[in-house]
Amino acid sequence: MRNDVYAHAPRLPESEAIDPRSLLRVGEGPIDLEIGPGRGWFLVERAEALPERGIIGLEVRRKWATIVDERLRKRGYGERARCFAEDARSALPRLRSSSIALAFVHFPDPWWKKRHAKRLVVTDALVAELARVIAPGGELFIQTDVEHRADAYEATVARAPAFVPWETRARVGDHPYVARSPRERRAIADGLPVQRLRYRRL
Ligand SMILES: C[S@@+](CC[C@H](N)C(=O)[O-])C[C@H]1O[C@@H](n2cnc3c(N)ncnc32)[C@H](O)[C@@H]1O
Repeated sequence: MRNDVYAHAPRLPESEAIDPRSLLRVGEGPIDLEIGPGRGWFLVERAEALPERGIIGLEVRRKWATIVDERLRKRGYGERARCFAEDARSALPRLRSSSIALAFVHFPDPWWKKRHAKRLVVTDALVAELARVIAPGGELFIQTDVEHRADAYEATVARAPAFVPWETRARVGDHPYVARSPRERRAIADGLPVQRLRYRRL
């Protein structure tokens, strides 16, 4: 089976209470999280631009988690940026509370068929877990180029009392994160409007 090539994809420790700080060497620096980094260039660009921060990616596809984690290591960022082959829905409940400064979810949920609804990532359950793992004062950022998905994400986060819109409303024109995800770059190049939602963790 082709997938066997990635049988040794990087995984989180088996513990039920993982401290992300124990996975990196960033001293007291803040640790960020990306859910579904895909080809992972956002992780690389963040690590490159922000040496004082740590970042962890949770990517369900073993192939991409392996490639991205290796790429981070080869570029010399392996001590402060990692990508693990994990389903965020089962991995997040294992992360320590208030251990994450900023969580990114770029262009999630490329599933359109009803029978794929069970794969959706941005659900009430996931947002509740994000509220638990993001430290008070931290941030949650979600973006998509699918307008009705953005509406659904906005409604989902609005049901979580721990999050408030970054400004008067959650929708923001752009973001200050000095890196762009591969899908974001493609949407910009194709002239597709990107819907961006930014929240503060109370
Ligand atoms: C449409 S791609 C976007 C990739 C990247 N975020 C970007 O913006 O270029 C969605 C990514 O989320 C990953 N994904 C989907 N469900 C996931 C889950 N439950 N946990 C972790 N990653 C997931 C997919 O494997 C895929 O890499």
